Amino acid sequence: MKKLVAVLGSTRSGSVSEAAAEQFIKGAEDAGYEAVIFKVNEMNIKGCMGCGSCRKNGTDCIIQDDMQKYYKELHECSALLVTSPNYYANIAGPMITFMNRHYCMNNPDKTSRLQPGIKLAGIFAQGAPENYPDYPEKYDWYLSTFTGKGMELVGKQIIGGDSSREDAMKKAYEMGRSL
Ligand SMILES: Cc1cc2nc3c(=O)[nH]c(=O)nc-3n(C[C@H](O)[C@H](O)[C@H](O)COP(=O)(O)O)c2cc1C
Repeated sequence: MKKLVAVLGSTRSGSVSEAAAEQFIKGAEDAGYEAVIFKVNEMNIKGCMGCGSCRKNGTDCIIQDDMQKYYKELHECSALLVTSPNYYANIAGPMITFMNRHYCMNNPDKTSRLQPGIKLAGIFAQGAPENYPDYPEKYDWYLSTFTGKGMELVGKQIIGGDSSREDAMKKAYEMGRSL
C-alpha cells in the first residue's frame, strides 16, 4: 500500500491547517494511501547542529530524537504533506526546525538520498486574507527545500482568514484524493 506521511505544524484547538490536513488525509485514504501522522508540537525535535556528519557519510542525521521515526517513514513513503500556521509572517518555528533537519537528505555530492517520485503537498493557514501578497514566497521557499531533494510538488493550499471554511475543506480533500 502507498504511504502518505503527514506532518502537522499546528495542534491548536480549532486549528484550520489541522482540519484541512484531516480532510487531505481522508482524500488520500480514499485514493488508496495509508497515512502516518506526525504532530510536530508533540515531537522531541532538536535543531540541526550543523556538524556535517550526514553530508560527509551519506547518512540520516545522527541526533537521536523523534526525527528518527520520521526518517524511517520518509524513506518508505510515496507522498509527504507538510502544514503550518503562519506565525509572524512566516512558517511557524517548529516546522522550520523540522525542515532544517532535512540537510541529511542530500548525499555528499548533493544528489538526493530520497527515493525518486515522492509527491509533496503543503497546506498553510494565515490570519491575513487568502490573497495577501507577501506570504506565497515564504511558503514557496519552504516547499523548495523538499522539491530541491527531488520531490514533486502536486498541491499547495493557502487558507486565509477570509477563506470559506467549507470550500477550504473541500479543496484539501480533493488535493488528497488526487494524489
Ligand atoms: C504567534 C502568532 C503569530 C501570528 N502571525 C501572523 C502573521 O504574521 N500573519 C498572519 O496572517 N497571521 C498570523 N497569525 C494568525 C495565524 O496564522 C492564524 O490564526 C492561522 O489560522 C493559524 O493556523 P492554525 O489555525 O492552523 O493554527 C498569527 C498567530 C499567532 C498565534
